[in-house]
Amino acid sequence: MSLLEVRRLTTAFRTGRGEVTAIEDISLDIEAGEILGVVGESGSGKSVTALTVMGLLPMPPARVVAGSVRFGGQELLGLSEMRMERIRGAGISMVFQEPMTSLNPVLTIGEQIMETVRAHEGISARAQRERALEMLERVGIPSAARRLTDYPHQLSGGQRQRVMIAMALVCRPKLLIADEPTTALDVTIQAQVLDLLMDLRDELGMAIMIITHNMGVIAETADRVLVMYAGRIVEEAPVAGLFDRPMHPYTRGLLDCVPTLEQDTERLVAIPGGLPEPGRRPAGCRFAPRCGLRVDACAAGMPPLVGGDGHRAACIRVGAA
Ligand SMILES: Nc1ncnc2c1ncn2[C@@H]1O[C@H](COP(=O)(O)OP(=O)(O)O)[C@@H](O)[C@H]1O
Ligand code: SF4
Ligand SMILES: [Mg+2]
Repeated sequence: MSLLEVRRLTTAFRTGRGEVTAIEDISLDIEAGEILGVVGESGSGKSVTALTVMGLLPMPPARVVAGSVRFGGQELLGLSEMRMERIRGAGISMVFQEPMTSLNPVLTIGEQIMETVRAHEGISARAQRERALEMLERVGIPSAARRLTDYPHQLSGGQRQRVMIAMALVCRPKLLIADEPTTALDVTIQAQVLDLLMDLRDELGMAIMIITHNMGVIAETADRVLVMYAGRIVEEAPVAGLFDRPMHPYTRGLLDCVPTLEQDTERLVAIPGGLPEPGRRPAGCRFAPRCGLRVDACAAGMPPLVGGDGHRAACIRVGAA
């Protein structure tokens, strides 16, 4: 049994143009202590996947159409909000791209971290403070004791992201979901935060799902990778296999334009064209309008993930060119 088992997960949103599917038929496993990278252009469904797992999408407009999410063997879909709250923090916790929107501007750093501890563990105020301090030190905040009484705006962007990581880890979750955790940071700080995440994985033995639009981040951190396109998984592979032998034309396109950490861009520009809008996806392979290997048969049906040894891709021409 894997730590997290997602099976055939499909999530849709109610919109002015009817219900549109944001993610479709997503299956993934994360083992204890593993770093799973999830990569794809903006809009491919990475955040919706994470937020569905966390039970954090507002419903409505969102709706889980089908599938299952098991954490430590327990089904999470359909759990009451009260029971989900217990799992968030101590079981699975999440770090978001922009720490300023997730930190409360009118509470000090110390108060916010202690509140997180208090929500999950009945320990004394003094023990809460000690835990907060220990975690701030662990994530590399200098003069942590003094920082406890600072407000979020008094910290730099990199320090705020460290505080968010401290808050996410203070209840010792088994799985951390980091959604574009370094996208808002400058490159030096980005590399430091990625190093920190990997150190914490080694020390605390937690698993990490790291979500990014940047193949460079994947190369630095992940053990295994999922590539998402237009709401579906198009390739999955161990990280070395993905970089050495990418199977899907989309993955190859991504690898042709890997930004180094130094030249990160929001858009992956080397593949001409853009993601189809959710309501206007082509029949069959969704990558077809942008694919140089396209043949008529690509429109016939959704290509299934095929392959072996943990390396699979959803393309009917795997092996061609
Ligand atoms: N609240 C929402 N209402 C309608 N559509 C949404 C909503 N949130 C996300 N989506 C759609 O779901 C798809 C996946 O979005 P998202 O998971 O945020 O992409 P990513 O994180 O990969 O950039 C997009 O097509 C987006 O437009
Ligand atoms: S199935 Fe066809 S269109 Fe889709 S990626 Fe493969 S070759 Fe390209
Ligand atoms: Mg996102």
